[in-house]
Amino acid sequence: MDAILLVGGQGTRLRPLTASTPKPMLPAAGVPFTAHQLARARAAGIDHVVLATSYKAEVFEGYFGDGGAFGLEIEYVHETSPLGTGGGIRNVASRLRGDDVVVLNGDVLDAHDIAAQVAQHRASKAAVTLYLTRVEDPRAFGCVPVDDDGRVLEFREKDPNPVTDLVNAGCYVFRRDVLEGAIPADTVVSVERDTFPALLAGGERLQGYVEEAYWLDLGTPTAFVRGSCDLVMGVVPSPALPGPPGQRLLLAGADVSPEATVDGGTAVGAGAYVGPGARVHGSVLFDGAVVRPNAVVSGSVVGRDAVVGTGTVLDAVVVGDGARIGSGNELLRGARVFPDARIGNGVVRFSSDRTS
Ligand code: GTP
Repeated sequence: MDAILLVGGQGTRLRPLTASTPKPMLPAAGVPFTAHQLARARAAGIDHVVLATSYKAEVFEGYFGDGGAFGLEIEYVHETSPLGTGGGIRNVASRLRGDDVVVLNGDVLDAHDIAAQVAQHRASKAAVTLYLTRVEDPRAFGCVPVDDDGRVLEFREKDPNPVTDLVNAGCYVFRRDVLEGAIPADTVVSVERDTFPALLAGGERLQGYVEEAYWLDLGTPTAFVRGSCDLVMGVVPSPALPGPPGQRLLLAGADVSPEATVDGGTAVGAGAYVGPGARVHGSVLFDGAVVRPNAVVSGSVVGRDAVVGTGTVLDAVVVGDGARIGSGNELLRGARVFPDARIGNGVVRFSSDRTS
C-alpha cells in the first residue's frame, strides 16, 4: 500500500526551532516526529511512502535514506517552490502504484486505525475518505459535517460559527484516479480549501471515517511539547519510541544528576545534561542541551546545545539551538529565545502573552 507524507511546510508557528530543522524532523520523544509516523504507517500495512518535501528537503533524505532501515521503501519528491497541500499530493502522483493511497499530514500525532479507514474507503467506494475527529472548539479547524451514512456534506474551514464538532484530522485515503483528475499539476493548491469543496461540488462521494482516538496537531510549541511527553509516557503508543514508556526518556549519553528531578514525560536528548537540584517537568531537551543546577524547566523546549543557567526558571518557553541563558533569569509563558542568543546572569524576567 502507498502513502504520501506531506512534510513541505515552513512550520512558522514553531519558530525558531524550525529555522534549522523542518517541523516533522524535530525530535519528539527522542526521534524525529516523522519516524513515529512512518512506524505507525508500517504497522498499518503501508510498505511504500513518498515524502512530499519542500522546506529543507535534504534533511529528510539524510536521515531516512531509502527507508530500508525502517522496513519501508521511501522516495522523495521535492517542490522547488511550495505547492501547498493539494499541489504537494498531486506532485508525487507519478510515484504511486496502487489504486488507493493514504495521505498523512506530517505534523499530526494520532492513534486512529489507518487500516480500518482504508477498509471503510474500499467498502464505500468513495472518491476520498477523510479521518474526522471531534474537538471541543472546532473554530481553528476545518469543520466537516456528515449525514447519517457518514457522507461529507460540506467543508467549512476555520468557521467562527461551527455547525459540528467533527473536524478534518489530516489523514485521507484517495482513489488515485481522483487525485490525478481533480488536482491540477504544477499548481499551488490547498486540498482543504480547493480540492475537497470542488470534488463535493462535482457530485463525488466524500466519506467521513470517524474515530475518537488520541489526536493532536503538533503545530504550536505547546502542542509539540504535549505530544512529545504523551509519546514518552505511552499515552499515545509509538513503535518508534526509543525505550520503554515512562516518566522520562533518556537518550544515549544523557547525563542526569541523581539529585535532579526529571519527569512528566520529559525527553532528554543524547549527550544532554541536567545538574543537581534541577527540576525538569514535561519538557523536551534536544541533544546536547544543558540544564544547570537548580534550574526549573517546565512545559518547554530547550534546543540543541542550548544552556539554561543555574537557578533559571523556564515555563512554557522555546529556547533555540545554541542559545545560552545565564543564571537567575525567569522566562515564562510563550517566551522564545532565538538560536545562539546570549542572555546574561539575572537580567531577564519576561512573560509573553503568546500562549501558543
Ligand atoms: P505553519 O507554518 O506553522 O502553519 O506550519 P506548516 O507550514 O507545516 O503548515 P500546516 O501546518 O498547515 O501544514 C500541514 C501539513 O502540510 C504539514 O505536514 C506540512 O509540512 C504540509 N505542507 C504545508 N504546505 C506544504 C507544501 O506547500 N508542500 C508540501 N509538500 N507540504 C506542505
